Formats: sequence, C-alpha cells, structure tokens
Amino acid sequence: MITEDCDRDQLLRKEAIRRGSSGRISQTVTEAILSRNSARVFAKNKTIPHDVLLQMLRLARFAPSGGNLQPWHVHVLTGRKLDSLRHEVYKKTLENPAGEGSEYHIYPPGLTDPYRTRRRKCGKDLYGSLGIGRGDVQKKLQQVRQNFLFYGAPVGLVVTVDKQMNQPQFVDLGLFLGHLCLLGRERGIDSCLQEAWALWPKTIREQLGVPDNHLVFCGVALGYKPRNLPSPQKELNDLATERANLGEFVTFHIDSSTSNGQNNGQRRALAPAGKARL
Ligand SMILES: Cc1cc2nc3c(=O)[nH]c(=O)nc-3n(C[C@H](O)[C@H](O)[C@H](O)COP(=O)(O)O)c2cc1C
Repeated sequence: MITEDCDRDQLLRKEAIRRGSSGRISQTVTEAILSRNSARVFAKNKTIPHDVLLQMLRLARFAPSGGNLQPWHVHVLTGRKLDSLRHEVYKKTLENPAGEGSEYHIYPPGLTDPYRTRRRKCGKDLYGSLGIGRGDVQKKLQQVRQNFLFYGAPVGLVVTVDKQMNQPQFVDLGLFLGHLCLLGRERGIDSCLQEAWALWPKTIREQLGVPDNHLVFCGVALGYKPRNLPSPQKELNDLATERANLGEFVTFHIDSSTSNGQNNGQRRALAPAGKARL
C-alpha cells in the first residue's frame, strides 16, 4: 500500500511540476513541495522584482536553526555584478573544467550504494532529458558549464558559512535554502541550488569580498521558467527526479494496537481534504 501511495505521489509531482512550468503558482505548502524541481533554463529578461526578493529572504530567515545560530550568509547578485561573476567563471571553466577546488567534499569520497546508484541515475535522467548519451563527454561538459551562467537566471545567490560551523549548521543552511525554494514556488519563482559554485571559491572570494573565515557553500539560481519551451529544454525543466519509497528510508516502530499506530505512516491522503487540485 505504501509503495502504491509513493508511486501516486510521484505522478502528482510530475503533474504539479508541469502546471508550475506553465505558470501556476503554488498556494499550499504541499503544492509548493510538489511543484518545486530544479530549473535549469530561465526566462531571459524576466527579472524578479526587488521587493519580492527581499520578502523571500525576510521570510526564509524564519527557518529554524540549532540554538538559533542562523549560520547562513547570502550574497545577492543581479545585473552587472551577476554578469561579471558568471562571465569570469564561465570563461575560466573553458580552460579548467575542474575549477579551483572546493573547500569541502561535495560528495563523500568513495560514495557507496544506494547513494552512488542514485547519483548516477540523477545524471542519467538529467542528461537523458536533453538527449545526451552516456559517452557524449563534450555535450555533458557543455551542460555542466551552464551552472556557471546560473543557467541564465536573473538572480544569483552565493551562500557562505563561517568556517567554525560544523555538520549541524550545514543542516541549518539546508533548511534555510529549502524555505527559500518553497517561498519561491509560492511566487511563481523557480530555483536551482548549485554546489557547482563551490568549485570556484577563489574567484568568488575576490569578486564578492567573501572573508577568509567563510566557506563558499553553494550558489542558487532564481528566476522564472520560460513558458512554452521547445524540446529538449522543456524536458529538462520539467524533469521530475525520482525518490526512494518510504520502505527504503523509514523504519517504523509503531504500536499497531492503537488507532494512531494504524493511521501514522500508512494510508494518508497527500493533498489536504478539499485540495485535491494539485
Ligand atoms: C545542496 C544542493 C546542491 C546542488 N547542486 C547542483 C548543481 O551544482 N547543479 C545542478 O544543476 N543541480 C544541483 N542540485 C540539484 C540536484 O541535482 C537536485 O536537487 C536533485 O537531482 C533532485 O532533483 P529536483 O531538485 O529537481 O527535485 C543541487 C541540489 C542541492 C540540494
């Protein structure tokens, strides 16, 4: 039963992403979660109004953090400042695709399964959506390089964190970023979180004046998905990556003699009552 529900959620998500791509704004947290995916093509010349951007940042700061440390630091780039960073880094990637070296392990060295397989599948689906085959290294590189143009987004964020922070504070950063992405969906704004930017800490430091005691964690592309995209960009922007079913990551310790036990984690409608239109 749980597997069927998980499969149904995936279908709902696919549909929600498709609607989001055609301009539907998410009105509930559930809708925002379902319609959010990583956008990798953004509408040219459609800027995010400054007050909307400020509002998103103001609201995202209410994300919880351990001890209320609020360890996030965000550099907001638009216009010429954004262009200056993306053009310099993009140019550099033509010479040096590996970058300057990240200040943390983007993935654990020697990543094991099931994570390794999931990572591979993610790449396969992403490049597959563009019709790029396994062996087409040049085309893959070309697509990876789009990261350094912030995928053409009108707003680029660079997120840094004080180097004294540790794993718990990286969780806090994730919560902040999660809030930001969902707040975006409520405003018709899409996003792509980008650890790829962590490969260029030196250039970012120089351009943005990031102090030495801060680590460059990631970039975030923010903007609007273009409507009526042709193939294969449409498939790329509508990509609904898969998720593991609950059975793979939840261990239930449920007292089945209580009614709570019977309901929790078993059959639960995803959409709130009366809000089936996702
Ligand atoms: C912290 C973080 C860093 C990421 N870095 C990149 C990146 O550098 N480039 C990119 O295209 N996508 C990046 N992604 C997007 C993931 O590939 C994506 O979230 C994942 O495949 C699930 O797909 P979805 O976001 O469409 O649901 C990143 C996501 C997260 C959470």
